Amino acid sequence: MKDGFQLEKKLDHIAFIMDGNGRWAKLRGLPRHLGHKEACNRLIEIFDACCEFNIKYMSFYAFSTENWNRPQEEIDHLMDYLEEFFAREIDYLDSKGAKLLISGDLGRIREKTRKVCYEALERTKNNSRYFLNVCLNYGGRDEIVRASKKIAEAYHAGEISLEEINETTFKKYLWNPELPDVDLMIRTSGEERLSNYMLYENAYAEFVFTPVKWPDFHREALVDCLKEYQNRNRRYGGLKNE
Ligand code: IPE
Ligand code: IPE
Ligand code: MG
Repeated sequence: MKDGFQLEKKLDHIAFIMDGNGRWAKLRGLPRHLGHKEACNRLIEIFDACCEFNIKYMSFYAFSTENWNRPQEEIDHLMDYLEEFFAREIDYLDSKGAKLLISGDLGRIREKTRKVCYEALERTKNNSRYFLNVCLNYGGRDEIVRASKKIAEAYHAGEISLEEINETTFKKYLWNPELPDVDLMIRTSGEERLSNYMLYENAYAEFVFTPVKWPDFHREALVDCLKEYQNRNRRYGGLKNE
């Protein structure tokens, strides 16, 4: 370990709200979109750090169902950078044994980006060392509503009975059933809200909010969050200390 830090608490799934890109750029007198560009460099850096700490499942909020409210120019830039990210990093992700997952409806994403995403999914589909989940055109409520509709269809088709519907079977209808519950949710940039992020999966997650803006969120900032997580007492409604 580079700085001697060792993660000793169970942490299967870490989820990030990569926020503050626009403000980071503005502070430097740059156009907002350059914050998104820099954000992609942190994404791969933080992926690496999570691998180092043996965190198997990672989710990154890249574009929400609400982000369509942004100017089209910013959305276009975001998609450009996402395409560049996959083009640049897919070999590396594959070599690390990472399986790419996407949570969100790619149907509304422009064709070129969608194609790049499908190629990256295909390319890494047999990997299982790490799981890199990119939330794209993702909304937590949307995910739950879609899951409910899928269950209704399955029920209608006689594939599932009412008795079989429970919290565990419900999960199978979410975007990526192989993702376990989130253990630690980190939001950067000082905002302290969920913004519709993984509502089902975050039910018992620990939340860490850091003032650091995502383009400044290097490995050391992650370690600070992990240290805070490590000091948390997860009780799950019970009384026991972990
Ligand atoms: C997060 O950074 C990235 C996306 C929402 C796509 P922002 O673009 O929200 O940056 P701020 O919050 O305006 O600084
Ligand atoms: C949440 O950030 C979405 C992503 C990071 C992709 P936003 O910046 O869009 O959230 P709000 O608008 O501040 O809640
Ligand atoms: Mg923001």
